[in-house]
Amino acid sequence: MNYRHIYHAGNFADVFKHWILTLLLQKFLEKDTPFFILDTHAGIGIYNLEHENAKKTQEFCSGITKLLKHKVTADFKKYIEIVNNLNSGGEMQLYPGSPYICNDFLRSGDRLALAELHPEDFASLEQNFADNPQISLLNQDGYAAIKALLPPLQKRGLIFIDPPFEVPNEFDLIVKSLQTGLKRFGHGVFAIWYPIKDRKLVKRFYSQVKALEIEKLLTIEIHANAPTLNQLSSCGMLIINPPWQLDAKLRANLPQLLKYFEFPHGTYVVEN
Ligand SMILES: C[S@@+](CC[C@H](N)C(=O)[O-])C[C@H]1O[C@@H](n2cnc3c(N)ncnc32)[C@H](O)[C@@H]1O
Repeated sequence: MNYRHIYHAGNFADVFKHWILTLLLQKFLEKDTPFFILDTHAGIGIYNLEHENAKKTQEFCSGITKLLKHKVTADFKKYIEIVNNLNSGGEMQLYPGSPYICNDFLRSGDRLALAELHPEDFASLEQNFADNPQISLLNQDGYAAIKALLPPLQKRGLIFIDPPFEVPNEFDLIVKSLQTGLKRFGHGVFAIWYPIKDRKLVKRFYSQVKALEIEKLLTIEIHANAPTLNQLSSCGMLIINPPWQLDAKLRANLPQLLKYFEFPHGTYVVEN
């Protein structure tokens, strides 16, 4: 396990995924009944962009730094508010990972489970989220957590799957865990983030997911098409059981996101 997210924290792919995460979680707040979140690949939860590893790649400069320069549209406000609050309204030094974002949305009856396998990253995660009775911290395989924790006591929930893609069969692991997860929690919302490097692998993933015969499926892709971007330049998010009208919200805002990132040749896909 060599992957450490600190090198990539706050990059354009993080902004894309975390912004969509805030849109999903805002929908959960529309009902009073409690919800459950499982973050299968949690990372450490809070990233210090002054850390030498973040500074080495500077990936956040083409992501969150760009966004903060703009007066954003209403649908980005909650995400930006979370980033700003973490930095107490001052200059950005800390960037929120998915556990921090999920925690921000919890009401008293809601629950969050965070799985992180890397021992050092798990120790940091523990430090960041210790003694919170609403949060379960699991130093275990995130896919095993899907099997162990579903269905949740709360009748609704989000399973956020954001693996490092270090192993060549990561897409297969995701599909297998979706089979298990959907059997146990068929009406749950499942959101999967993935890099788009090899189009053939992604196409295969899409057809494997389609074969699961899921009624409601949303695919979102963002392509930077920026030759100077010295990092991953395309990624996607697949959402099973997406909330109503999320597709329209994404279509309305993704052109803005490309503008904020200053990707003049950037493109996006939103497909039901
Ligand atoms: C892309 S990062 C997660 C970032 C995080 N979701 C966020 O948005 O802030 C992937 C994380 O998964 C961890 N990891 C790798 N394999 C895992 C596994 N099988 N189960 C759980 N965590 C794993 C890595 O150590 C890494 O911290």
